[in-house]
Amino acid sequence: MNSSIGNLLQLQRDHPVTRIVYVNGRYLPYAQAGVHAEDRGFQFADAVYEVCEVKGGRLVDETRHMQRLARSLAELAIPQPMAAGAWSRVLRETIRRNRVRDGMLYLQVSRGAGPRSFTFPSPKTAQTVVCLARSVSPHAQEAAAEAGIAVTTTQDLRWGRCDIKTVMLLPAALAKEAARAEGAKEAWLVDDAGYVTEGAASNAWIVDGQGRLITRQIDNAILRGVTRTTLVDVLKREAIELVERPFTVAEVKAAREAFITSATNTVMPVVRIDGHSIGNGVPGLLTQRLRAEFHGSAELSDP
Ligand code: PDD
Repeated sequence: MNSSIGNLLQLQRDHPVTRIVYVNGRYLPYAQAGVHAEDRGFQFADAVYEVCEVKGGRLVDETRHMQRLARSLAELAIPQPMAAGAWSRVLRETIRRNRVRDGMLYLQVSRGAGPRSFTFPSPKTAQTVVCLARSVSPHAQEAAAEAGIAVTTTQDLRWGRCDIKTVMLLPAALAKEAARAEGAKEAWLVDDAGYVTEGAASNAWIVDGQGRLITRQIDNAILRGVTRTTLVDVLKREAIELVERPFTVAEVKAAREAFITSATNTVMPVVRIDGHSIGNGVPGLLTQRLRAEFHGSAELSDP
């Protein structure tokens, strides 16, 4: 047996609930959830994705995630594979079948499968759609947030359209692996001018000595995080000053607080960068407050 299939079967055996994956209209057992060998997502990273938090069995910020998915598809001229109502049913059914209360939902849409050719296949080609859901221990997340995480910095090697959420994640995977080897949970990517763009899979924030929040402005160098957008709502409501501009690694080292935002982490304190303590080396007060207030501003969908 092919060893990767063997690993998948082992995973399935080790998992108390049979995981189910939505693939092109069918809900399949995990080990059988394959797509075609000539899928353009596989050959060209010609695919986009979304990751949503699931909290208490509900999707967090579904509307914004689905709006961003629509934008990513439109930017790449990949047709929408299904209408909003059908998406809504697939997302909920995937959560339900996997009995996820707290965790994450992943969906991916590729341009479809066809004989390998750089140019696009016929517009009639069906998109490949995959949706899966997985439980994540809220206790483990809270423990991480209480301790704060370490980050390392690395050169941002990605392309010029990081505003589109594509599966072209090799630079991010390499950066994260290098971070892991240093005992860090996230990599902060640094552009040629010495500014932090964002995390490999998160947006990056600092609080300066005057208590001002700073995060990079929205441009093609970063993904407009849904968590970032919702947090900006919290800041407006609480009249907390936000400066949207690039910041350097030296500014991070001198910052009072730092944190990342992403669907799977919400607001996660950062206490070390490249082995250097940030602030007092413990999660900052403003960061903790924003983490506590985040879900009060997020949209929680009906199950
Ligand atoms: N990553 N920037 C990048 C490069 C990301 O990959 C992500 C999300 C974010 C934050 O976006 P949001 O707040 O919408 O999650 C910013 C997801 C979680 C992932 O790839 O797993």
